[in-house]
Amino acid sequence: MLEPLPASGPRRLLPTDVLRREHRQIEERLAVLSAALEALGDRGADPKILDRIEEVASYIDHEMSVHHRKEEEGLFPLLARILDEDLHLDGRVADHEDLSIMNGKFKEALEECRDQGHEDAHFAAQMLKGYGLYIVHLVLEHLLKEDQILFLVADRYLTDEQQAEIFEHFRRIEAEVD
Ligand SMILES: [Fe+2]
Ligand SMILES: [Fe+2]
Repeated sequence: MLEPLPASGPRRLLPTDVLRREHRQIEERLAVLSAALEALGDRGADPKILDRIEEVASYIDHEMSVHHRKEEEGLFPLLARILDEDLHLDGRVADHEDLSIMNGKFKEALEECRDQGHEDAHFAAQMLKGYGLYIVHLVLEHLLKEDQILFLVADRYLTDEQQAEIFEHFRRIEAEVD
């Protein structure tokens, strides 16, 4: 049976709907990464597994950095006007920076694993796995804090004009990266 629509009609799209949808895509990539790290084994380095890992590292550098710009240039400045200290937005920006640094180390470890003549393939594979797991845990926790706290506050407290302003930032950022 069809559910009746709410009296006010369907809810309009909010900026956090876009960001949440991107979070679900990010989680799919993290699942791919986790499975690849699991399949890596301690002795290293099936090139097909390394290719899969490299695709996720590239996704973090590109698509995810666009997502971070939408938050840092679009959403966070608006949230900061109302509730900065309570929301600890600096911590979320620091997570973005941490991820970018760790992804750099992750890609270096990946190159070490690709080096067939590497003197200690076992250690290289362990380091790759370590950086990968760090990234998975960092990002999952980060998404949870945004989904369960920041976005709820944004949906509840930002005015229609502020939501429109955020969408305007999203449009500009997407036009810049196209
Ligand atoms: Fe974020
Ligand atoms: Fe996010």
